Parts: sequence; structure tokens; C-alpha cells
Amino acid sequence: MKKLYLRTFGCQMNEYDSEKISDLLREAEGLELTAQPDDADVIVFNTCSVREKAQEKVFADLGRVRHLKQQRPEVMIAVGGCVASQEGPALFGPQTLHRLPQLLERRRSSGKPQVDISFPEIEKFDHLPPARVAGGAAFVSIMEGCSKYCSFCVVPYTRGEEVSRPFEDLVAEIDGLVQRGVKEVTLLGQNVNAWRGTIDGAPADFAELLRYLSELEVERVRYTTSHPREFTQRLIDAHRDLEKLAPHVHLPVQSGSDRVLAAMKRGYTALEYRSIVRRLRQARPDVSLSSDFIVGFPGETEADFAATLKLAADAGCDASFCFVYSPRPGTPAADLADQVGHQEKIERLQRLQRQLDQQAAAISDAMVGSTQRVLVEGPSKKRPAEVAGRTANNRVVNFPGGAALHHSYADVRITAALPHSLRGELA
Ligand code: SAM
Ligand code: F3S
Repeated sequence: MKKLYLRTFGCQMNEYDSEKISDLLREAEGLELTAQPDDADVIVFNTCSVREKAQEKVFADLGRVRHLKQQRPEVMIAVGGCVASQEGPALFGPQTLHRLPQLLERRRSSGKPQVDISFPEIEKFDHLPPARVAGGAAFVSIMEGCSKYCSFCVVPYTRGEEVSRPFEDLVAEIDGLVQRGVKEVTLLGQNVNAWRGTIDGAPADFAELLRYLSELEVERVRYTTSHPREFTQRLIDAHRDLEKLAPHVHLPVQSGSDRVLAAMKRGYTALEYRSIVRRLRQARPDVSLSSDFIVGFPGETEADFAATLKLAADAGCDASFCFVYSPRPGTPAADLADQVGHQEKIERLQRLQRQLDQQAAAISDAMVGSTQRVLVEGPSKKRPAEVAGRTANNRVVNFPGGAALHHSYADVRITAALPHSLRGELA
């Protein structure tokens, strides 16, 4: 049997793409996944260039498999994703991964390296195998790309502009997933709330899409990631009205300082972000909010950073992501003077991370004694006589139970909060 070694770098979007790559190559070339590059007939790196570190790792890993190509020239090496889009052997971009089987074929027959990093609108989705289902949940990509052009970010250049998938395609995909036992879908995109389409002959936005999708038989709907600039009152109202919409929102703020937000070209002020959070909590008091933060953006002073710490606290952020600013070639921010020193950035990262960890721990502690509706994903990793489920705010809960509970919802009373999970019992 021919083997595929597939290594994924970076974000959820890339993990979604990697699932599609392995399904596609199983279908087209009969390739089965292996964890060992030495065994592989085809090696694929699905790369990320959002931060310099991720990009460096790709080149280090490529160096590590080069000798395999020398020993066995028939081994195919393909580099996909955002580094491929930027560095432009077989290279394929995030929007052309569906053409990978043809690319490998052309590489074999011509003996020459092949490149396909174009942005063919939304053709990708028409050529991909159906979504993979795990633990009763599945991801559904609803839009691709980003048109926001934040001054620090490579995504608009590597993944192209925002393109929404048609409403009918989404309904068909989710209906199909429900038939295969899916209870929960996560709508995926760089900025899901930039989704635009036509529903019943009329123009529709993301809030409208959520209203329609919650009429389907799926039990819980999540989405990630949303952007504060298009977080409309209509979307907040959807959180008030739609039972099926998980009370969790990942809403990257990046900074709490208006000066820094303006230099980042984020298109909102800290006050506007606070207003969204306040109205969202009014509409859905149990909502859990997570965010992305960048520390050490060029020109960020101690006062700017203090504003970020304060915003993270005031907004009551749950488990969130913090990144050290990484200058990306070709983005406007990379040319800004006044880059913050490395040591300073690391120190700020640690301070913010520590505060956010404390906030998340306090939220976990406050959940003890409450009853949570969890989707049981499967057996618990540590105790086989128990099951593991996920709460609406993305915490893993382990509790006594058998296989009959797998892939269904259960009401669980939380009995203890541990550093990385919760314990509970059936309510
Ligand atoms: N809307 C997208 C999302 O969260 O999926 C944002 C895409 S980006 C891949 C995810 C996060 O990476 C951003 O929210 C930002 O915090 C971080 N990021 C992007 N460019 C960065 C850079 N140059 N340096 C550090 N962090 C960066
Ligand atoms: Fe990047 Fe800003 Fe879009 S962070 S993905 S350009 S919203």
C-alpha cells in the first residue's frame, strides 16, 4: 500500500485543509497516512506563514526529508498552504489543494517541478471529498480568504480575498453531515461574519445564514473566527434568539490601545470592541468570549500594553491566544520604524499569558456545581471506563459513562476544575 506523510503547520483552517488533502489523495492515489516520512511515497507539508517561526519550521522540516528524495527519486514532495503561496518543486496554494492529484501526475510525467498557487474563486469546494466526521462534530468551511488587510498579516496575500460559499451548498453539506450522525457543526472561515449570499432570492448576511442553518436538524452550531468590524447588532440578536447557537464567540481584538489598533488597521476602537462585548453579554449572559492578542507591535509602549491587559480583564476573556508580533515580509507593518525589542516582547507575552490563564482558571472554578450540556466525543483518554465531552465554552469534561453516550449530548454536573479539564457526573 502506498503511504502519505502529511505534516500540518498553523491554524484550524490548515487542519481543515489537511483533512481534505489526505481524503483527496486516498481517493485519487490510494494513499494511506503514515507517521514516518521514511516510509512515505508522497510527502506533503501543509504550511503556515502567519508568523516567522512557523515558516522557519517548514524549511527545517524540508531539509530533514531532502535525503529521502536523493535515496528514492520516485518519492514526491509537495509543499502547500501559505508558505507555498508566498515562495511560489510541487507547490500548491490553499485555494488549489483540490488540484494536487493532477499536480503530482504532471510532476511524474514531465519530471519537472510543478506550481499552482492561483486563487480560482470557490472552485476548490466543488472538487473536494465530503467533510470528515469526528466525535459527532464536523467543520464546514463557509468562506475563504480575507479582505481586511490588517497591516501585520499575510493572510489576504496568501489565501486571497474573501469569497463566500453559496447558501445551497452549505445546506446540502450540513444535511449530508446530519445523515452521517453529526450533531454539531463549526462554521469555519478567516472572517465568518463577512459571509454574504443569497437566501430565498434575497441578499443575506451571516446573521441571516445562522437563522436558516439553525432550522436544520443539527443540534449545536459554532463558528470561528469572527471580526469585530462586522459584528453587527443582527449577529448579537441571533445569539439572543437562537438556542442552537453555542454561547461561545472567538472575537480577536489584538490590542486594547486605540493608537495600536489604528496602526494595525483593524477598523475599530477599544471602546467599540467593549460595546460589542457588553451588548453580547446582555443578549446572551452565559456567553464565553475568547480572543487573539498581539504583543510588541511596532511602537507599542508600556501604556499601550497596559491598555491591552485592562481590556482583556474588563472583557472577561476566557482561554485565548497571545502572539509575539512577527514582522512578515510584504506587509506594511514590517517597514514601520520603532520595532519593540525581543526581550520586551517576550516579557509582555508572559505577563498577558499569565493573566489570561488566571482568568480562564477562574471561569473553570466558577463552573463547578453548574450543569453543562456536553457533546460526548468518545472514551476518556486517561480512564477507559469514562467518557470525554466538550462544553459549549470548549472545555473537556471527563465523567463516568459508557459507549452508549458516545457522539450524543449529555447534561453533566461539574464536580471539579483541573488545570486542563473538568470532572463531572451525569446530571
Ligand atoms: N481571522 C483570522 C483567524 O483568527 O482565524 C485571523 C487569522 S490569523 C491566522 C490568526 C491570528 O494570528 C491573528 O488573529 C493574529 O493574532 C495572529 N497574527 C497574524 N499575523 C501575525 C503576525 N504578523 N505576528 C503575530 N501574530 C500574528
Ligand atoms: Fe489577517 Fe486581519 Fe484578515 S488578522 S486574516 S488580515 S482580519
